[in-house]
Amino acid sequence: IPSTVTIRGHTCQTDPSWFNIPDNVLEAAARRLHLQKDHPVSITRQIIQANFPAPVFQYHNDFSPVVTTRQNFDSLGFPADHPGRARSDTYYINDTTLLRTHTSAHQAETFRANESAGYLISADVYRRDAIDRSHYPAFHQMEGARHWDRSEVPGGDVAAAVRRDLEALPAHGVVVEDPNPPWHAERNPVQDEHHSEAEAEAIGAHLKRSLENMVVDVFSRAKAAAKRADPDFVDEPLKMRWVEAYFPFTSPSWELEVYYAGDWLEVLGCGVVKQDLFINAGVPSKLGWAFGIGIDRIAMLLFKIPDIRLFWSRDDRFISQFTGVSDDLDKLKLFAPFSKYPPSPRDVSFWLNSSSSSAAGGNTKNVFHENDIMELVRNIAGDVVEDVRLIDEFTHPKTGRKSMAYRIVYRSLERTLTAEEANNYHDDVRAALVAELGVELR
Ligand code: PHE
Repeated sequence: IPSTVTIRGHTCQTDPSWFNIPDNVLEAAARRLHLQKDHPVSITRQIIQANFPAPVFQYHNDFSPVVTTRQNFDSLGFPADHPGRARSDTYYINDTTLLRTHTSAHQAETFRANESAGYLISADVYRRDAIDRSHYPAFHQMEGARHWDRSEVPGGDVAAAVRRDLEALPAHGVVVEDPNPPWHAERNPVQDEHHSEAEAEAIGAHLKRSLENMVVDVFSRAKAAAKRADPDFVDEPLKMRWVEAYFPFTSPSWELEVYYAGDWLEVLGCGVVKQDLFINAGVPSKLGWAFGIGIDRIAMLLFKIPDIRLFWSRDDRFISQFTGVSDDLDKLKLFAPFSKYPPSPRDVSFWLNSSSSSAAGGNTKNVFHENDIMELVRNIAGDVVEDVRLIDEFTHPKTGRKSMAYRIVYRSLERTLTAEEANNYHDDVRAALVAELGVELR
C-alpha cells in the first residue's frame, strides 16, 4: 500500500487499515468519461442537462471524486451505522477520506455556495459491488436540485410561486401511474416543522413534472434512434410510475420507474430536500427538491449497449461509432455490436472456516463480504471478467463447515480468449482465494 495516492491532482495520505482501492479503480478515476467528447456517457449527460437549462440551473461537472465522510454521509444525515459506510461497500483512502459513492456528496457545499435557483452535478462515483453486465465499480450520476427562497417570492408564498413555475413547464402526454398520496405520515412525512402541506405538495408536483419531462425526452431520443436504425421498429408506448422511496436527506421521497422491454426499471431517486441541509448550509430560507440519476444505465438503454465494460474500452471500434454526436444530439446512433466473442465459464468451489490457516500465510479471515470475491476476480482478470455469481452454497451436516461455489464467466469484448488464457486467469483466481481469503479449495 502506497503512503500517499494522487487522484486527479488531489494527493492524500493513505491509512493502511482503511485503504482498499485497487489499481483498476484508481485508473478509472483518471478517465472522466462523462466529459469525454462523443463518449456515450458524456452524450447522455448532455441530453439530461439540456432538460434543465441555464441560467436557472448551474452546471458543475468537475468536482473531485475524493471527498470526506462528512460530505458523503454526515452532512446528508446518514446514521453512524448505515451499511453504505462499510468498507465492504465503499472505497476508502483513510478513515475520513473516500471515493464518493454518490453525487449527493456535493449537495451541502453547492447549497452553501448559493449561486443560483438550481444546479446539476455530473460526476464519476464508486461502489464496491457485484460483477455482471450492468455493474462496474465506477459509474456516473447526475444530481439535480431546484429551490425557492421564502424571502424572495411574492408575499412569501412559496407554494404559489412553485405552482406558477409548474404551470410554465410543458405537458408531456405520457401515461404516468402515481397512485399514492403525495406523502405518508410515518414513512415519508411532510417536514411540518418547516413546510406547509401546500408547499410540500407543490414542490413534489414540480419535481415530478420536471423529471417526467426529462425521461420522456431521453426515451423519445432512444426511440428515434431505434427507428433510424430500423424503419420497421415498432415502439411500445412509454409508461412511467412513481413509487415511494426512502433517502436520509429527502422527505417525502420517490423513485421513478419506466416500463421498458417488458420490465419496470428504476431510473432515479428524488424528494423534497430535508430542511436541515439548507439550514446547515447557511441558507435557511430556501426550500426545494433534489434528484439523482445513474447515467450509465440510461446510456446503455439509449444506445443499446449490452455491457457496461464497453464504456471503459479504449477499442476504437467502440468509441469511433459516436463521433460527431456531442455536437448534434439528433445524430444519436445505436451501438453496432462487434461480433461477440465466446464466453469461457469456469467454476470454483471451496470450504469456508478452513483449518489450513498456515497455507493461507496465517490468514484465518474466513468471514468476508461477497464484494471481496468480486474485487479479487476483477483485480486478476480486469475487464476480461463479465459475470461472477454464486451457484451453490451448503453447510455440511456433520462438520458444520460451509461450502460455496461460484461461476466466473471470462469473456473479452475485444478478442477470443484461448482455453489456456482462461485457465491461467482461473488458476490465479483460485490461488488468490486461498492466499487472500483463506478458503480451502475443493
Ligand atoms: N444519492 C441517491 C442515490 O445515489 C439519489 C438521490 C439524489 C435521491 C438526490 C434523492 C435526492 O441513490
